[in-house]
Amino acid sequence: MEKPNSSPSRLVSFEKVNKSFGATNALIDCSVSFEVGKIHALVGENGAGKSTLGKLILGVHKHDSGAIKVDDSEVYLSSPRDSVKLGLVGISQELSLLPDRSVVDNIAIGRETTIGPFVSSKQTLEKVLAVMKKYDLYIDPTSLVGSLSVADQQKVEILRALNTNARLIVFDEPTARLASHQAEQLHTLVRSLADSGTVVIYISHFLEEVLKISDTISLLRNGKKVRTGPTSNETKKSLIEGMTGSDAGNLFPKKPKITANSEVILKVKGLSRINEFKDISFELKKGEILGIAGLVGSGRSELAHAIYGNRVPDSGSIELYGKEFIVKDVAHSIKNGMAMVPESRRDQGLILERSLLENTSLPYLKKFTSWLYGLNKSEEYNEVDASCLTTMIKHSGLEKEVQYLSGGNQQKVLFARAAMGKPRLLLADEPTRGVDIGAKKVIYELISQLSKVGEAVIIISSEVEEIIGVAHRTLVMSRGKIVAELSGDEITKTAIMEAAFKEG
Ligand SMILES: Nc1ncnc2c1ncn2[C@@H]1O[C@H](COP(=O)(O)OP(=O)(O)OP(=O)(O)O)[C@@H](O)[C@H]1O
Ligand SMILES: [Mg+2]
Repeated sequence: MEKPNSSPSRLVSFEKVNKSFGATNALIDCSVSFEVGKIHALVGENGAGKSTLGKLILGVHKHDSGAIKVDDSEVYLSSPRDSVKLGLVGISQELSLLPDRSVVDNIAIGRETTIGPFVSSKQTLEKVLAVMKKYDLYIDPTSLVGSLSVADQQKVEILRALNTNARLIVFDEPTARLASHQAEQLHTLVRSLADSGTVVIYISHFLEEVLKISDTISLLRNGKKVRTGPTSNETKKSLIEGMTGSDAGNLFPKKPKITANSEVILKVKGLSRINEFKDISFELKKGEILGIAGLVGSGRSELAHAIYGNRVPDSGSIELYGKEFIVKDVAHSIKNGMAMVPESRRDQGLILERSLLENTSLPYLKKFTSWLYGLNKSEEYNEVDASCLTTMIKHSGLEKEVQYLSGGNQQKVLFARAAMGKPRLLLADEPTRGVDIGAKKVIYELISQLSKVGEAVIIISSEVEEIIGVAHRTLVMSRGKIVAELSGDEITKTAIMEAAFKEG
């Protein structure tokens, strides 16, 4: 008997689905369906509910009410295992691989070919190689996953999904950590997956990317679906308006003026660290915003860490405010007026199981402590509160653990923390990764304000538009060396990309 409304091309559909976490309504009355062979993008501000929607499909969270249907039958997904059985898998916002196991182990985990009670490693390997061949995605199966680049690790995750015969794959911000040519490879792969009949759910803050690769876009705002429609009906402007309820206006503030004879804040001379960067020299003036562009792995982050004291340079020298500065450790750099927004919020930045309050104030506790009265908690609370407010962190209490914040809001905590230190020199490494357009604007405004009051800022970014929009001057790095210096109107996309691809 034919069911009314049945549609063979609809793999998963939501009917008035609700999901809340305590007092937070992450998804409200959401109805949407995902069709076979289509790339369906989810866009919305940080905390809009995109990852939550994905996690309901993946069995990570259970919905509170409404219905989730797969092949038009209602399902109750209470664990990722339930979802995998139905062919619903995800490539997570933060990769979830075993770094000290091989590529083949990671791909085949839980699906090894067995002969009686024994795992047949030969057959498992053959099966993995067949999947690699089918999708034209080769990575040495014997390599340790921890030794691979982020892009290759992501491929391993994708191969793992493909090895489970996935029918639907959720990509949650897959290109946030990729260089542009790697992102393009991923786009091609995602398109071929869709063409071969897989449903792709694609979550991204890069609106150009979404417009380029998706067939359908659903827009979410504060847990509610605003609309779903063909991508051809949307523009960057319509998406921004739909996400924020208003026109974002100009994303970048006017660049503050700097005078040619301003004081030099930072002078780096011949700085080197083996296998990381070599013979780096540059100056940074008071009030200047210096961009560092280059491909992921070109030594940009390593250089910043060596100035900030997470590691120590092998040779070369640094002058800070006209005086010799010996890099010792982070505490020493903070004491000398530096702050850093690190690239990786998980590995370098946040303690996920600690509160928002602790994560923000941790490096600055001394500031709130006197020998006589100990820690002044109310002062600490007020400053953190103010800093979270200016950086527009969407949270449900400063005492809540940061692991419960959405990805983009976790990123903002790093900026709130750095800004709270009122640094004279701010090192910001990919400060807007995974951050929505409204909050990006706020971060650019904060960077600009810092430079206006005479602080100097170094911003490392893989987003060329961001560098063009905020930096007075830009260094381009390739293979550990500075290969170009561009200022003013010379900072263009072509100039940056050409230099970035140059052999150092
Ligand atoms: N496990 C959790 N516990 C408590 N609150 C949560 C949990 N997961 C998500 N939330 C809250 O639900 C809301 C939606 O979060 P979600 O992660 O879906 O946002 P998002 O659209 O993916 O945002 P982003 O672009 O920042 O990744 C946020 O307010 C978030 O703080
Ligand atoms: Mg998310």
